[in-house]
Parts: sequence; structure tokens; C-alpha cells
Amino acid sequence: MKPKVLLTPDTKNLPTDVSDSLKELAEVQYVTGNYDAELKDATAVLVGTGKVNAEYLDKAPKLKLVARFGVGYDSVDVAECTRRGIYVTHTPEVLSSGVADHTWALILGFNRHIPLADTFTKTKWAKREGYIPFGWEIEEKTLGILGLGRIGLEVLKRAQGFPVKTIYNDLIRREDLEKKYGVEFVSFDELMRRSDILTIHVSLQESSRGIINQEALAKMKHSAIIINTSRGPVIVEKALIKALQEKKIKGAALDVYETEPTPLDNPLLKLDNVLLTPHSASAAWETRRKMSIRSVGNVKAFLEGKRPQHLVPEQHEVSF
Ligand code: 8YV
Repeated sequence: MKPKVLLTPDTKNLPTDVSDSLKELAEVQYVTGNYDAELKDATAVLVGTGKVNAEYLDKAPKLKLVARFGVGYDSVDVAECTRRGIYVTHTPEVLSSGVADHTWALILGFNRHIPLADTFTKTKWAKREGYIPFGWEIEEKTLGILGLGRIGLEVLKRAQGFPVKTIYNDLIRREDLEKKYGVEFVSFDELMRRSDILTIHVSLQESSRGIINQEALAKMKHSAIIINTSRGPVIVEKALIKALQEKKIKGAALDVYETEPTPLDNPLLKLDNVLLTPHSASAAWETRRKMSIRSVGNVKAFLEGKRPQHLVPEQHEVSF
């Protein structure tokens, strides 16, 4: 009997010409909604951002591989998977470019009020109602990058084409990138104080959870904006909302939230100094195809008895 593989992302994310290649090796099942009943005899599962914790794993006693359809794996309890002899893979590199594009779309979209300008053109301009929305230039502004990993670097590369000063903070100092791109290393506090545009590219870990809290926000310029395409809980959302309501900072452009989908009664949605997208920074056709090839490739390798290429760093040394 062939091993059973469950695929949870929908086929728009996971083009069937990529995922169907698994059918030679496994009984492939596309699942939506609650798929608890399917877990009991599954060998591998390809997952979105849904939680994979002990409770989930208890329902999947035969599971040997959790393949994340994405780079961030904070939703997966890796220690628990390792304890149970389950491999965890992810999709680094292939989405860095697409996410960096989206980050810049948010930076420029916020600064030039693109959504508002679009609505104005479609509904008011010809009637000479209201006013053309005025935005801000980014010339001479300081772009602060929190987290100069794969995605932060792509954002920095794009910044070379704009007249901005770049600074960064990371747990790991990158003198090679400082030399190559003229980016300046600063402390976390200095990053908060000096950034006109603060863009966040850290993974969600205990060290980064809630790092943008009331205290950090208080250090920022009143004219500063925050861009977040990493993970919602890196920012204390309540503190951000307060800072935005009280105009302690100018604005925020966010792709990620503490709870996703973010509830309709989240006060964040009522603010006019925010630009919001639905965790869609990697939602480009090319990006999702590359993510599919990489994540399906990890499942395929495992089914062929090989070591999957993109194990999460915590499992680089382990073998089951
Ligand atoms: C995806 C992401 O939207 O890569 C990640 O970690 O958060 C996004 O690229 C997500 O993985 C879709 O499941």
C-alpha cells in the first residue's frame, strides 16, 4: 500500500501539475477544512500556517514528515516533532524576492496613498469632489531594517535604487553586506530612534515575540512608519494601535497580524493611517509556484528514501 500524503494548501497555491507528481509515490489527498479524520494514517502532510503541535500530532500517529509550505515555521512545534521522529521541512530562498517586492509595494503604497488615490480617481475626481490625496517622498529618508536575513537582504538590494539611507539591526552582524551595500549596523534602540521607515524581517522566536512593544514604539519619530511582512506577534498589536490612534507614529503598512485572518472588529481596520494586506506578501504566481516545487520536492525526496533538502535548521544534525 502506498503511503498517504495530505496536501492542505489549495490548488491555486499548489498547482496540480506540481503536486500531482507525488501520485507516483503516494496516495495523494487534497484536504480542506477540518481534516482530523484523515490524519490517522497519514505519512506526510504539506501544511500552510495552521498550528502543528502535540495535540495535532496525537491525531497523526504514523506521521513522518511535516512539510511547511513557506519559510517561517513558528506554527510548527519542531521540538515535539523531533521528539516523535518526524522531519520538518520549509521553503527558504524561493520567496525572498516576492516578499521583498511586496514590502516595497507597501512602503510606496503607504507613502503615496495608492489605495485612496485609486478610489478617488474612480469615484470623486470627475465630480470635483474632495481633494487629491497628498503623500510623502522617500528621498533622504532612513530605511531601518530589523532582521537582515534572506528577505531583509532582498529589501536592502531594492533600496539601492532609491535615494534612502539604510541602517539595520540583527542578532548577527553582516560586515560583508555593510561593505557591499553601504548599510550601517546600529543597536535596536538606535534603529527605533533613527528609522523613518522601519521594515521588519525577523522570524518569530521567543527573542523577537513582542519586540515592537510600547517602549520600542515610544522611541520612534512621530513621522515614522512601520512595515511588517514577517509575523504579526513580533509587534504588540494593542500597543501599535494605540500609537497609531494617538499619532505617536505616522502609520503602518502590515501584511501580518496577531490573529489571522484578522477579525473584522479589530480596531486596526478602522484606522486611516494604515495600509493592510491579507498575509499575501508571497502571493505572486511565480513565488507560489517556486514554493510548491520546493515543498513538494521535500515530500518527494522523503518518499524516495532520501534526506529532504530543506530541513529546518534545528534538524540539520538529526536523523530518524
Ligand atoms: C505564506 C509565509 O503565505 O513563508 C511563510 O512563512 O508566511 C508565507 O509565505 C504561507 O506560508 C502560506 O502558507
